Amino acid sequence: MSLLEGFVSLESMCATCGLLFFCFTLVFSCFSLLVFISRMKPWCNCDVCKSYLTISWSNKFVNLCDWYTHLMRKSQTGTIHVHVLGNTITSNPDNVEYILKTNFHNYPKGKPFSAILGDLLGQGIFNVDGHSWKFQRKMASLELGSVAIRAHAMELVNEEIHARLLPLMASTARAQRVLDLQDIFTRFSFDNICKFSFGMDPACLVPTLPVSDLAVAFDLATKLSAERAMNASPFIWKAKRLLNMGSEKKLKDAIKVVNDVAKEMIKQRREMGFNKRNDLLSRFMASIDDDVYLRDIVVSFLLAGRDTVASGLTGFFYLLSKSPEVEALIREEVGRVAGPGQEFPSFEQIRQMHYLNAAVHESMRLFPPIQFDSKYASEDDVLPDGTFVRRGSRITYHPYAMARMDNIWGPDCLEFRPERWLRHGVFVPPCPFKYPVFQAGVRVCLGKDLALTEMKSIVAALLPRFHIRVVQPDQEPRFAPGLTATLRGGLPVRVSERKC
Ligand code: HEM
Repeated sequence: MSLLEGFVSLESMCATCGLLFFCFTLVFSCFSLLVFISRMKPWCNCDVCKSYLTISWSNKFVNLCDWYTHLMRKSQTGTIHVHVLGNTITSNPDNVEYILKTNFHNYPKGKPFSAILGDLLGQGIFNVDGHSWKFQRKMASLELGSVAIRAHAMELVNEEIHARLLPLMASTARAQRVLDLQDIFTRFSFDNICKFSFGMDPACLVPTLPVSDLAVAFDLATKLSAERAMNASPFIWKAKRLLNMGSEKKLKDAIKVVNDVAKEMIKQRREMGFNKRNDLLSRFMASIDDDVYLRDIVVSFLLAGRDTVASGLTGFFYLLSKSPEVEALIREEVGRVAGPGQEFPSFEQIRQMHYLNAAVHESMRLFPPIQFDSKYASEDDVLPDGTFVRRGSRITYHPYAMARMDNIWGPDCLEFRPERWLRHGVFVPPCPFKYPVFQAGVRVCLGKDLALTEMKSIVAALLPRFHIRVVQPDQEPRFAPGLTATLRGGLPVRVSERKC
């Protein structure tokens, strides 16, 4: 056989293998699609599924979460099924405790979730189950629990408040401009979480600086990753990713920017030394060598600490703007605890502000930054309210709906009433399964204390100095689709300086 003949037969062998591979992939994909479709029951004709598919719910409700809440309020068990999505949604605290604690091992994040966020988060804590999660959880709990790290985190918050936030608010007040408070809080929390996680300052809150590439790329990457979940089937986004087209191409480009920044930060740390630094990356570098794993861990923290805090603060100021009496009580408490002549309350003083703590908890009850959170059942199971859960199906707990249940919070559940958290003026911590705003149980949020202190520090710095008024307080909040609750159109406010 000549060399040419050999080459031709090799080429035809490759072509045959390619064809076989293609056929196999096609058959496998069709089979998976059928399994997927059969699980979702796309033919379901029940009222809920019909309303979901025809979007007729939007005739009566502004947001999908409001429609789900309405359905859960009507349900005897507080649990509903959206068959076409293969999703069981619950507002029942007993179910929540069972999923997040009692039978935690049966309810991991699961592959469908990990696939959606996998390109952005890789093997980071947010996106993994099993050993990798356990390892990161242990390491991160140690770090976030350490006194040095907490003190460092609070120094960063203080610095951002005093050097950037207060001057920006003062200049807005002087210029009598309308300000998008949601945007300001997003910039604040991004600066803060980048300094905390990477030891890097993107300076998003400095008005004269161009918007940071990292912030834009990170924003786009989280938005596009979340939009994957809105496709009728994961095969759609997976096919687009394979062909590198449309939103998947944009996502890939955005993730590349995030990766490049992360790589550069890790390289710099290796060159400059990381032993004496307090940012999370430096601390993790002491025990991890793998740069990709380091990148994944730190990017999860960016996601965890950015939009959540911004969303919590936006909801807080929206509610406060409609509750002058609550605002007056917080001001009174900040002035009383901080004492006369003290410019800024210390962290110890902030800890003593029970009414402020109650108000922040109450605002996140009504507007939880993460409105719902899903798990996937590993095995068939029955929830405490009798609901059957099929293996592989999705189960969602819904803090937004839970806040609106009379049987959990009483007949005044729709009211913003910080007093419900106080006994004789002292803050009483919530039952985590009635208030899973920070999740609860085995995988409870690791940044809860940091987030609450950050939020309270910002409120305690802003309220004594400024009147902040929402431009359209009577407009019902409209949420944009995404991983965290974000208001469409932001939160436009007017700011004026108070005479202290
Ligand atoms: C108001 C602000 C915040 C809220 C409402 C919040 C809420 C949550 C929720 C609901 C989860 C569970 C997510 C899931 O498993 O699907 C979570 C997990 C987590 N949060 Fe937060 N979070 C906030 C701020 C923060 C901050 C500032 C940090 C870091 C400094 C942080 C670090 C984490 C981490 C590491 C996890 C993963 C825990 C695990 O999987 O074991 N969070 N958070």
